[in-house]
Amino acid sequence: MSDDGSAADAALPDGVERRTFGGRERLSTRGEPVYGEPVDSDGWRAWDAGRSKLGAMLELGMDTGLVGGESVLYLGAASGTTVSHVADFAGPTYAVEFAPRPVRDLVGVAEDRDNLFPLLKDARDPDSYAHVVEAGIDCLVMDVATRGQATVAVRNRQFLADDGRLLMAVKARSEDVTAEPDDVFDDVIAELDSAYELLETARLDRFHADHLGIVARPK
Ligand SMILES: C[S@@+](CC[C@H](N)C(=O)[O-])C[C@H]1O[C@@H](n2cnc3c(N)ncnc32)[C@H](O)[C@@H]1O
Repeated sequence: MSDDGSAADAALPDGVERRTFGGRERLSTRGEPVYGEPVDSDGWRAWDAGRSKLGAMLELGMDTGLVGGESVLYLGAASGTTVSHVADFAGPTYAVEFAPRPVRDLVGVAEDRDNLFPLLKDARDPDSYAHVVEAGIDCLVMDVATRGQATVAVRNRQFLADDGRLLMAVKARSEDVTAEPDDVFDDVIAELDSAYELLETARLDRFHADHLGIVARPK
């Protein structure tokens, strides 16, 4: 496990750049603004790692395998803060969220992005969107604040290409508010083992308390 203060070292995907906003270098993507984020004169929008687990994973230099242009299934899209950045650099991006209120905002975000497809669905029930999501997805991104995060990852393995990637942020408190986060993470990793080979993990605490970032590939 890398420490949580490591400098960024892995390559960023095409369409994600470090640019200067207010004198500070930050990740950014190019697209319509969504959540009041700073935008520079070239249309690049700052990607706030403090509001995005995937942003934190990139900021910490995790090797996500993202290159830009890939197909993405994003579970736990909420109102679209992170998935809007993903759709800025990725190809077809399917965004699953089960709470109706944020999905209303997400639909608005998708109006400016014709590669973003919001799905009001429960990520624990992948059969309910299997008729919409294409097979052989390049990247499964997970940020579902729910108990049973590993089970959700295993159930959604069916969509991933054999050489695809799982990029997962595990929230310890969603599994058990009383347990030690490291114990929760060990249990999640053990359950993932039935379907995934672990490539990298890193604590995201610099940006998100008691979260673990995971990069894995299908077995
Ligand atoms: C931490 S928030 C996601 C934030 C978002 N990924 C972002 O960075 O902009 C977690 C989201 O997961 C959603 N969620 C929890 N369980 C879910 C499930 N079973 N299916 C779909 N969405 C779920 C919640 O409604 C919530 O919006």
